[in-house]
Amino acid sequence: MDWSRRALEMAGAVAPRGSRWRGPVADVPRHLFVPRWWSRASGDGPYWELHDGLADPERWLATAYSDQTLVTQVGGSHADHARPGERSKEPRPTSSSTLPSLVVRMLRHADVYDGADVLDVATGSGYSAALLSRSLGGSRVTSVDVDPYLVEVAAERLDGVGLRPAMLTADATGPLPGAYDRIVSMVSVWPIPPSWLTVLRPGGRLVTTLTNTSLIVPLGGRSPEGTGGEPVGESWGRSGGRVGRTSLVVCV
Ligand SMILES: C[S@@+](CC[C@H](N)C(=O)[O-])C[C@H]1O[C@@H](n2cnc3c(N)ncnc32)[C@H](O)[C@@H]1O
Repeated sequence: MDWSRRALEMAGAVAPRGSRWRGPVADVPRHLFVPRWWSRASGDGPYWELHDGLADPERWLATAYSDQTLVTQVGGSHADHARPGERSKEPRPTSSSTLPSLVVRMLRHADVYDGADVLDVATGSGYSAALLSRSLGGSRVTSVDVDPYLVEVAAERLDGVGLRPAMLTADATGPLPGAYDRIVSMVSVWPIPPSWLTVLRPGGRLVTTLTNTSLIVPLGGRSPEGTGGEPVGESWGRSGGRVGRTSLVVCV
């Protein structure tokens, strides 16, 4: 399946020239992390419609390499386990592959550098863990999600493309093991869990989305390499109407 050209095009669209994330976005086969997904549809009221990549490979690639969030779980129903043609009336998504441009923006805010130990909070599909692992090597990356199935299947898919970050099932708002130079969270929280500050090394940097906000506010030290040029704060909510949820990025 010719995914490489599409991934390369997406990398050009979501990662600025010179960003360390252009290469990983071009190299990681996002479609393998989202073999099935849900999309919003309406008929007799709104519902979620199941899509199966293998049943429609062209649509699979077109969707996976477009800059959109792909919902993988609604309520307790993961697309991997849904029956063909299944519909769901669940009110809200509970897991997704975040739109690549936002993943890249958050990773850029994190100001990641070679040799940094990074905690990827909210494994979801495993795509952000894949970008981090491709960039830093799996031994530098720990990915955590509260849902054991998501952690297990993401670990399998990461392993399938040769990436082996540490994978952890835990409620990331509670105690966490390890020590990290960077923490990047793609689950919205408020307040910032105290455990994140406990496991963040001195001089470290934390980037998270905050519940019900629309600002990106980085706080924290620069990387030892002082990469410079990375954005220091922005608002991204509701840009172009594509993002229904609003978020804040904070670095400490
Ligand atoms: C938007 S998805 C993460 C996207 C992911 N980074 C990716 O690239 O595909 C949000 C995830 O947060 C997880 N989550 C929700 N609450 C959590 C918590 N308290 N601790 C850890 N993970 C949590 C959900 O299970 C869901 O998979």
